[in-house]
Amino acid sequence: MKIKNICCIGAGYVGGPTMAIIAQKNPDINVTVVDINEKRIAAWNDENVENIPIYEPGLSEVVKEARGRNLFFSTEVDAAIEKAEMIFISVNTPTKTYGMGKGMAADLKWIELCARQIARVAKDDKIVIEKSTLPVRTAAALKDILDNAGNGVKYQILSNPEFLAEGTAVEDLQAPDRVLIGGDIDTEEGKAAMQALVDIYAKWVPQESILTTNVWSSELSKLTANAFLAQRVSSINALSELCEKTGADVNEVARAIGMDSRIGPKFLKSSVGFGGSCFQKDILNLVYIAKSFGLDEVADYWEQVIIMNDHQKKRFAENIVKTLYNTVSGKKIASLGWAFKKDTNDTRESAAIYVADYLISEQAEIVVYDPKVTEEQIYADLDYLGTRSEEENRKLVTVIKDPYKVCKDSHAIAVLTEWDEFKSYDWQKIYDCMLKPAFVFDGRDILDAQKLSEIGFNLNSIGKPK
Ligand code: NAD
Ligand code: UGA
Repeated sequence: MKIKNICCIGAGYVGGPTMAIIAQKNPDINVTVVDINEKRIAAWNDENVENIPIYEPGLSEVVKEARGRNLFFSTEVDAAIEKAEMIFISVNTPTKTYGMGKGMAADLKWIELCARQIARVAKDDKIVIEKSTLPVRTAAALKDILDNAGNGVKYQILSNPEFLAEGTAVEDLQAPDRVLIGGDIDTEEGKAAMQALVDIYAKWVPQESILTTNVWSSELSKLTANAFLAQRVSSINALSELCEKTGADVNEVARAIGMDSRIGPKFLKSSVGFGGSCFQKDILNLVYIAKSFGLDEVADYWEQVIIMNDHQKKRFAENIVKTLYNTVSGKKIASLGWAFKKDTNDTRESAAIYVADYLISEQAEIVVYDPKVTEEQIYADLDYLGTRSEEENRKLVTVIKDPYKVCKDSHAIAVLTEWDEFKSYDWQKIYDCMLKPAFVFDGRDILDAQKLSEIGFNLNSIGKPK
């Protein structure tokens, strides 16, 4: 089966970059990314390719190459569905905020809307691909809707979860550890649909890195991968607290265990807590699924990863208050970083939001600098928590696009994102314009501890003996 037209519903952090690479590597296939968010589509189509809505190193170059040739961004969802032989669903699947499963289950409202729209519009057979991260067995629900609400055309449902990480999306997509494709391995039609997708990836991914499985294994592998990754961060963060009490250094411990090839060195960087739109959401989803099968021990085991992460964020903020002589009321605290990790403008579930919120509740005055996050986004993140009024957030939080001005006259600096540029600042200059004693709380342990101590800073780094 030769695919000529692809449609991707959802032009977000996954749909945009993923389709840009598929289009770049398959110039003979037309790829149309559609979204109901007009502003987002307009930004993807912005004449100046630097204004695309997602900041990812290397992405604007890929978009520049393919856009208008065989990569298109549009709000005309029906037209793109109708034309495509293959439809990716890459819409958001956040944690439910209402009703059954509130605060745990994935909200599949948008997924179902997509399925119903495809069913309504499609006039010929389609391959429908789950790109969003979904609870195991969602493909059965999708098939039920498509088969019953449709126009009598045939559907093949594939699961093709995405493993890219933000900030490295382009590298991850260009050289993935593996591509996972789940489908109906028991029928010829199922196998043909899987092969059609394999052929698209095989344009740049080695065959041995393209795994095909049954659809349930594929769906569950995505949740499992995120749970394992987050579990490693919570594990090292749990040890960081013990390091601070015992004189051990968490980086030395991580290095020592990471050299054991059975453990490996990645994802052992202790931090102020993991953020991002997915780790927490996907573990909560896994916990909910386990509970719904009555597997309480399994659910409790994974829930602990989240409990530990919440504890890490809270204890970082508490330590700031305790160290600043038990009060931050009226004190100016500079936040270096707001994004949930470096090299992205994404702030979803960023630890910085929770640390700032805690400190504002202690009546601190927060001044924020992040190289990529807008002022509007920072206020939106705080407003979303609903801890206080929007006016109060604007009164107590200031956003300045100059790191030196942010640190000026502050009592303390909290490093909350690991942006590389923080390392190369003129720290003597920063010290000279701060109130003394000049405290730095390095929630990412990226600063040169010896240099800062020599300048005179009182440095607190996560996982380092006090
Ligand atoms: P996102 O919120 O950035 O993008 C989703 C887009 O879908 C939005 O622009 C929204 O307007 C659009 N949308 C929703 N319903 C629609 C509809 N009915 N028709 C057209 N457009 C619609 O989300 P994201 O970060 O790209 O994540 C998408 C999925 O991919 C989620 O399931 C997530 O768990 C998964 N995922 C995300 C990442 C990541 O790094 N962000 C990585 C792997 C997997
Ligand atoms: C993560 C996974 O790494 C991707 O494989 C997956 O596709 C994606 O979730 C998803 O499903 O959304 P992402 O959240 O973009 O990617 O970024 P990560 O690099 O995993 O970082 C997540 C959080 O953990 C960040 O806040 C980061 O600072 C933190 N982290 C990561 C640590 O604190 N220590 C580490 O050693 C690694």
